[in-house]
Amino acid sequence: VDRIIDSLLIAVQGVGTQWRVFTSESPTGAEATWHDPADLLKFAEELCSGRTGPRISAVIFVRDQTSEMPTVLGRAPRLICILSRAQALASSAPREWGNFLVIDDGATGSPTLIVRGCATLMAQTYELPTPHGSEIARCFGVRDCLLQSESETLHIQLAGSMNLRVHIAEPGALVRGAGKFALAHMDRTGVWTDDRRSLIMRSVHKVEYPVLHTVGPVFDFSERTLADVVGQRPVLLVADATVARLHGAAWRTYAEQNFPTWHELIVQACETSKTWDEVDRICATAADRNLPRNGVIVGVGGGVLLDTAGVAAAFFRRGVDYVRVPTTLVGLVDVAVGIKQAVNGYGKKNLLGAFYPPLASINDYRFTLTLPRSAIACGLAEIIKIALVRDQWTFDAVERHAAELMDSRFTRPADVAQEIAFRSELLMMEELCTNLYETNHARLVDFGHTFSPSIEAASGYQIPHGVAVAVDMLLSTAIAVYRSIAEPELFERLYRLLDRLDLLLCEQDLPEVSVLACALEDAKRHRGGALNLVVISKPGCPTFLQDVQTSEITSARQGVVRARSSNNAILDLRDQYACLGI
Ligand SMILES: NC(=O)c1ccc[n+]([C@@H]2O[C@H](COP(=O)([O-])OP(=O)(O)OC[C@H]3O[C@@H](n4cnc5c(N)ncnc54)[C@H](O)[C@@H]3O)[C@@H](O)[C@H]2O)c1
Ligand SMILES: [Zn+2]
Repeated sequence: VDRIIDSLLIAVQGVGTQWRVFTSESPTGAEATWHDPADLLKFAEELCSGRTGPRISAVIFVRDQTSEMPTVLGRAPRLICILSRAQALASSAPREWGNFLVIDDGATGSPTLIVRGCATLMAQTYELPTPHGSEIARCFGVRDCLLQSESETLHIQLAGSMNLRVHIAEPGALVRGAGKFALAHMDRTGVWTDDRRSLIMRSVHKVEYPVLHTVGPVFDFSERTLADVVGQRPVLLVADATVARLHGAAWRTYAEQNFPTWHELIVQACETSKTWDEVDRICATAADRNLPRNGVIVGVGGGVLLDTAGVAAAFFRRGVDYVRVPTTLVGLVDVAVGIKQAVNGYGKKNLLGAFYPPLASINDYRFTLTLPRSAIACGLAEIIKIALVRDQWTFDAVERHAAELMDSRFTRPADVAQEIAFRSELLMMEELCTNLYETNHARLVDFGHTFSPSIEAASGYQIPHGVAVAVDMLLSTAIAVYRSIAEPELFERLYRLLDRLDLLLCEQDLPEVSVLACALEDAKRHRGGALNLVVISKPGCPTFLQDVQTSEITSARQGVVRARSSNNAILDLRDQYACLGI
């Protein structure tokens, strides 16, 4: 099995209701009986859900001609194929055979012949008496024949036939063939059909976008990056109002020089206005200014603006090209690298949105110079997030240089700031790359993002995203300490660092335990039923927790509160330990 299939289930029908089941975990197979095909279906669904082990991404039923087979799985894996035994055998044939013939007497002795070439999409199945095999072979100019049959006469008959090389199917050829079939179909694009005349579409959409780093200021007349990305296409520039005050004059000159057609829309971007109404306003402007299908929306601002404009870009004309110019540290290290666009809705953070890759993100770290300290701290919270799950060096560097990075607005020490920024972007992109559309709900980058959406929403979006992430990381680490996954010293280190960055909440701003418990339920709804709370044992060593008791949340919250009130995190956590009898 190869990297595109996480795990594979092959069920091969034997006589009657007997099936032999092979999975990546039990490659030698296990005998099982299902009298009702629905039970087999249930069994496969359970495996596909990932609840009982690694998620199964492909299920192949190799059925006998006579069997009844269910066609649809409720919680579908990425690929379900129903093959006849002959089709599975045909797939086991070596690539160098051209057209070839497969003869299979089947588990029940009902013979199937199949003629196919490796390049042929659909195998043709002939339910003819087996002696016709050699005639068919002649007809199609077949050179090779793969035979699975007990019949002596057939062997002799075929072996005597002119120009036909007869190969006896090896033991295991059925299962190997089914596996090869699955791989080929996972890779292939096109429309094909199965035995039940279902039509299956498989199309692969390549996702590629650059995160570019400018040499000069992004709107400088000599800086070509944005102009080159956009080309001569019409532009709607959507910008954060604060950024417009600071840089509006520069981009207007830049646009006049570089874009034949352009318009701008200034948005008061703040978390409470990160709503569908704002998306609608951007789309209305795009419509009013006749932005064509080949037009480009350029978003200039922090995470709020970039997310909102991104949703508009995804929806306007079913998607127009989107270029992000992030102007906050959160925007630069986190928003810029991914493909998620979302707005808040119905009392929930980021409830409405789309996975919509940008044409490009254009990163210019000079923007951080005008940010308030709080916005630098929020960016550092996202940097600490990725550092703690992936990279000890970055965590150590942020810890060592926190004060200077804050005072200098993330410009000094220059080499350290650049290295931290580059590593954060790269590591985030590495994490996203293999799971861009979040088909796997266990994501390391969700560290700090399990309690935080509810913390933000419960505060009426008064608590900034970065602060909520910081508090979440601290709560998660306290839970890890109580479980002896992490040492209290780690909590201490993180607490001190977040405190220095002014990212902690006072007790009255910390949400109640009930809110935090609901956050876990919400996270499960968002993650296909699994909690996947990310905790770390030490920087760079993450793990997932699936069951967290309310009592643990209570203790974690107390741990954070008491650490804050006494400003002695480690002792307090040890006290907590003592209370819990650990
Ligand atoms: N899509 C994603 O993958 C992703 C990732 C991380 C965060 N987010 C989202 O990003 C949002 C947080 O983004 P944020 O922290 O950038 O907040 P933000 O967009 O609200 O910006 C913070 C403040 O900084 C101001 N500002 C922006 N650029 C400035 C500049 N150069 N100089 C001075 N002031 C400037 C803004 O006007 C705003 O008042 C959250 O809604 C979060 O959900 C999205
Ligand atoms: Zn975040």
